[in-house]
Amino acid sequence: MSDQISVDLDKDIFAALIEQHEVQRKWCDQLESESDFSKRKAIFKRLKLELSAHETAEERHLYIPVMQHDEGLDLSRHAITEHHEIDEMIETMEDGRISQETWETTCADLIEKVRHHLREEENEFFKQARKILDDDLQQRLGALYQVEHDEYEKRHAAD
Ligand SMILES: [Fe+2]
Ligand SMILES: [Fe+2]
Repeated sequence: MSDQISVDLDKDIFAALIEQHEVQRKWCDQLESESDFSKRKAIFKRLKLELSAHETAEERHLYIPVMQHDEGLDLSRHAITEHHEIDEMIETMEDGRISQETWETTCADLIEKVRHHLREEENEFFKQARKILDDDLQQRLGALYQVEHDEYEKRHAAD
């Protein structure tokens, strides 16, 4: 992660979000293929930071604007509920009192949930949201999202 926040103004909100979905998929794949437990924990930490930064910026700069429209209520509620479910799994995995077995089961559930969520966003929610938000707004939200995501990662890098 560099110290500079770089914003690509050519990216609209959906291009910016989907680019970071690929980062999440990469961390999920690595987490799945790594067998050493301490390395798994380190990869989980990196995935967690990416997920939290993404969720926060996505809620503020996609779902809240979409929610201003009646036809955007259901999809936004659905997506934010899934974010919450993901957060709860992360919270379980961070609870130092759980067994390694519970950690591993929750980890497998988290990976499955994240993959499902990304697919649903790309195949359904984003397609509907594109029809709801006008082009100019999609473009401006892209920049706001990128700044929010990177600033969040910087603020929480040491968590
Ligand atoms: Fe997303
Ligand atoms: Fe999401």
